[in-house]
Amino acid sequence: MSDAGPLARLEEVGLSHDGGKTFILRHVSLNLHKGEFVALLGPSGVGKSTLLRVLMGLSKPSEGTVVGPTQDGAGTSHGASEGRRRAQALVFQDARLMPWRSVLRNVAFGQEGLGLTRQAKRERALAALRLVGLEDAADRWPRRLSGGQRQRVGVARALTVDPDLLLMDEPFGALDPITRSSLQDELLRIWQQTHKTVLFVTHDIEEALKLATRIVVLSGSPAGITGELELGAGEKEPDSPAFRMYAARLRAMIAGEPDPGGAPYWQSAEI
Ligand SMILES: Nc1ncnc2c1ncn2[C@@H]1O[C@H](COP(=O)(O)OP(=O)(O)OP(=O)(O)O)[C@@H](O)[C@H]1O
Ligand SMILES: [Mg+2]
Repeated sequence: MSDAGPLARLEEVGLSHDGGKTFILRHVSLNLHKGEFVALLGPSGVGKSTLLRVLMGLSKPSEGTVVGPTQDGAGTSHGASEGRRRAQALVFQDARLMPWRSVLRNVAFGQEGLGLTRQAKRERALAALRLVGLEDAADRWPRRLSGGQRQRVGVARALTVDPDLLLMDEPFGALDPITRSSLQDELLRIWQQTHKTVLFVTHDIEEALKLATRIVVLSGSPAGITGELELGAGEKEPDSPAFRMYAARLRAMIAGEPDPGGAPYWQSAEI
């Protein structure tokens, strides 16, 4: 797909809420290629959610260009919603389910406006629930679900519109470590099964290393991209020398320190 260019891109994007006196984002350029799993890593408050909002077309950039995905990958601004799909879908940190709707109807709700029949919406919602392992919970109420199950419903609701780009804003941040780890495994399985392009926001270095094929670091004020790592399979084994070396490099990038580079892990891992 490299012939078609990136699926979505930001070019020299800047964002200010006060008419240019102070900037939250500045000079941010990022290409997202089809099938990639990109982690956007940065400290709390740096501007990660702001960047997602800009990419989704919910916030207009003060500077620069934003090109969102479209169904055919051709790239017109902010995509479209014809074709019974959406160009992109967002998973929030808290699942944001409607307590008065069953799990199935919460998931089906994501498809409003796509011109689908009630039956088609139901079938697609069930298929998405199957993908996250929650088919049996279709008729349950959100308040009867665990935190991890609620997040799975949030993921299903996003998948149900078959988006080209799946944006995830710290979706597992509020979960306990064991649940979090199993949802990470599930997400990787879903990514491999569906070939979605994913942009996953996190402030957790280990989560980024475990999940992503590429990590982009956002830091500073105004925030910019201060580092980037392309990962191979060998770097993903926790406790391996390569994993520890990459973790050290990412910590340096977040702190705005010089990149320790590919130095052997014993020189750089114990920061
Ligand atoms: N509407 C707004 N007006 C002014 N400032 C805003 C507005 N929205 C966000 N900000 C500021 O922009 C900065 C970035 O916020 P953002 O929510 O993007 O950070 P974040 O990296 O997602 O943080 P977290 O990890 O805590 O979710 C923060 O300093 C925030 O106070
Ligand atoms: Mg945020």
